[in-house]
Amino acid sequence: MKDGFGREIRYLRISVTELCNLRCRYCMPEEGVEKRCHEEMLTEEETVSAARAAVSLGVDKIRITGGEPLVKKNIISLCEKIGAIDGLRELCITTNGTLLPRLAEPLRKAGVKRVNLSLDTLDAEKYAYITRRGTLDLALKGLEAALEAGFDKVKINAVLIGGFNDDEVPALAELTRRYPVDVRFIELMPMEGNRDFGPDAFIPYTRVLEALPEAEPLGKEGGVAKLYRLPGALGSIGLISPLGDHFCGTCDRLRLLADGKLKPCLHAPAEYSIKGMTEEKMRETMASVILKKPRWHGVLNYENRSGAGRTMNEIGG
Ligand code: 5AD
Ligand code: SF4
Repeated sequence: MKDGFGREIRYLRISVTELCNLRCRYCMPEEGVEKRCHEEMLTEEETVSAARAAVSLGVDKIRITGGEPLVKKNIISLCEKIGAIDGLRELCITTNGTLLPRLAEPLRKAGVKRVNLSLDTLDAEKYAYITRRGTLDLALKGLEAALEAGFDKVKINAVLIGGFNDDEVPALAELTRRYPVDVRFIELMPMEGNRDFGPDAFIPYTRVLEALPEAEPLGKEGGVAKLYRLPGALGSIGLISPLGDHFCGTCDRLRLLADGKLKPCLHAPAEYSIKGMTEEKMRETMASVILKKPRWHGVLNYENRSGAGRTMNEIGG
């Protein structure tokens, strides 16, 4: 269905857990992420009902996010049930990849078509620093497992951080020559919880192009990404600019959080609960929330931080 500004809502992102086995510095705090009371969270059946309600309203793409979705015990069964919904075109997942060596194959069998894997650096020490508790080797093994499992598409998300990985743009882009993967550079978003990053960390996507003079524009849109390709590469380079070039005008997304809150805009505080509702009531509520989707979230930059009111691990990007 269309929202109040004529945007057709087709894409639901479901954050299935706010828990994560890593602690990326731009995403979540080091300490104090406690498991919340089970009763507050959506049950598997409620999540599937919400997905079905969304599909009945015209959603045809669902992405499972977190936190880290693969730390959730019932993730395979959840994907199987959501993947089997009639009318759903595509089930995707965003993961940090560290658990893919065990789960890539079962996920594909459960109906997941695409995988986005977070990888901000190819330097083991920097990886350990930015994730606070991860090892690069595991993430790379996860990437290989994803490639072997035969998903329709594997993408790498790299958050672009000035003074941290801007010098690694060529190395990360080079992955598109070595593997059939798309690499997407995402501008760092200023959330309330990541004030430790100073103004120099927030660099525009154009810096990627400066570092890749040989990249050629593909001349087509890749959803929210501007697409380029290195000569002879197997995959594309995507540039995602939530700050410089917000994409609110064509935003087709709705978000559902693990505690049952519907969030019509990533950077706005408004949330509407569907916890405990029947599927029919969820559908009604979802339709009214779609109509409440704001036109845009206002200026987003170092001074004007996200109004999301939550950390990224709760929202799922
Ligand atoms: N800015 C940009 N991207 C972020 N992500 C998490 N926090 C931020 C942020 N502050 C990304 C992760 C992951 C996706 C779910 O969101 O890297 O790829
Ligand atoms: Fe976990 Fe992803 Fe957040 Fe990193 S960005 S802490 S992997 S949820």
